[in-house]
Amino acid sequence: MVPVVTRPNFDALAPHYRWLEAVTFGPLLQWCRTAFLPQLRDARRALVLGDGNGRFLAALLAVTPDVAVDAVDISPGMTALARRRTGNSPRVRFLVADAREHPLRAAEYDLVVTNFFLDCFGPRDLELVISRLVAALAPGGRFVIGDFRVPSGRFAGPAAALALAAMYAAFRLTTRLSAGRLVDPSPMLAGAGLKFVEERTRLHGFLTAQLWRKLL
Ligand SMILES: C[S@@+](CC[C@H](N)C(=O)[O-])C[C@H]1O[C@@H](n2cnc3c(N)ncnc32)[C@H](O)[C@@H]1O
Repeated sequence: MVPVVTRPNFDALAPHYRWLEAVTFGPLLQWCRTAFLPQLRDARRALVLGDGNGRFLAALLAVTPDVAVDAVDISPGMTALARRRTGNSPRVRFLVADAREHPLRAAEYDLVVTNFFLDCFGPRDLELVISRLVAALAPGGRFVIGDFRVPSGRFAGPAAALALAAMYAAFRLTTRLSAGRLVDPSPMLAGAGLKFVEERTRLHGFLTAQLWRKLL
């Protein structure tokens, strides 16, 4: 039997994403997306996955004069917003595609970025996506991640778990997201050949920005 691939659809959410983010997290998600931006000025070939309405992309283009970006997102609605936000920049190639299937050339990029994107996948798809992205990263290249995490604190842990349960329920309803819980990507990233470099956090670790590097 041919396996059925469930695809999320963020189009209906796209026009509301910006104000929903402002109301729920204020400036904190953008802090998380851009926490390592000052270190990325020398990037030349970047692959940005699931950037949604393009807030990270716009910030990246502003600080990296020489970067050429491939931006892959499954949502035409989100991609249209990102295209507009980045002024239809000739430095970005927008690709409306499923990251689980979109063909990627080996060792093509010196930077891979995923912000609030890896949390869209269950364990099996996450492992697949990570191995594809690491293969597309050149040796020595950087892998930057902004995402949620369940902190270990006595109060922060349960509060984060509750907030995530509500968010997954809302996303499943509005986007047909198949993932129902947060999977820690760290063991998969290390297993795929990345070395953890640095981490920055907010909200007691609920928001985490990480920098990884592919081993030479
Ligand atoms: C939760 S939103 C995050 C958007 C943005 N990166 C941010 O920081 O807020 C997830 C984004 O990933 C995209 N996405 C989800 N699953 C995808 C897949 N399998 N392939 C490509 N894009 C996907 C969605 O269309 C959406 O734009």
